[in-house]
Amino acid sequence: MDQQTIIQKTADYIRQEFSNDSSGHDWWHVYRVWQNALAICQHEKADAFIVQLAALLHDLDDWKFNDSADETPHRAKGWLDSLPLDPSITDAVCNIIKHISYKGAGVDNKMDSLEGFIVQDADRLDAIGAIGIARAFAYGGFANRPLYNPDSPPQLHASFEEYKNSKSDTINHFYEKLLLLKDRMNTPTAKRIAEQRHEVMLKFLDQFNKEWDGKDLD
Ligand code: ADP
Ligand code: NI
Repeated sequence: MDQQTIIQKTADYIRQEFSNDSSGHDWWHVYRVWQNALAICQHEKADAFIVQLAALLHDLDDWKFNDSADETPHRAKGWLDSLPLDPSITDAVCNIIKHISYKGAGVDNKMDSLEGFIVQDADRLDAIGAIGIARAFAYGGFANRPLYNPDSPPQLHASFEEYKNSKSDTINHFYEKLLLLKDRMNTPTAKRIAEQRHEVMLKFLDQFNKEWDGKDLD
């Protein structure tokens, strides 16, 4: 099986697995991450096959939807094991998936390959800007979080446990994660794209606060 066929089969599998999602992790999120990753790849000397496989499979084992005792991305590994792939490729892809997620403002990034940096940036670009705003509130609804509660200030979580167990509102999520992503992009290409998306979020929050405080009423 050639690489193009493997990518296409993987895309078809993921499209079907993610068809019913309403938490902002639907097929089109995966599709955008795939396309973002390919765009970043054009400026980096990375293995585009590994990047694409990791982009397509990156959310299959996400901690937000799977209760797993260990870090191994079991579903992604199961899929890769069903394909005629060199074990070094499967290992590289699984390693990226293991480290891709944001785990709290104070938690170090453990990503350690160029391919991983690219996929992580591609995923993070889809968490910011206009689409990022839409996804944050979609996920907030899915996780039963309030839009905003002025009595609970944002927290910069020092551990993944704290971040994972937090039940705070979606506006806080901007201060706890989304506004921090611009300065945590790995590649120059993603840093550049993030600038404008970041501005869109700042404008949105400014207007949200104005309306909340009734400052646009007179
Ligand atoms: P990651 O694995 O780094 O969290 P994802 O692809 O799973 O990346 O994307 C996470 C998405 O879920 C983002 O769009 C983010 O805004 C949303 N999200 C995660 N946690 C929250 C939260 N506490 N409140 C609102 N949205 C959230
Ligand atoms: Ni994702």
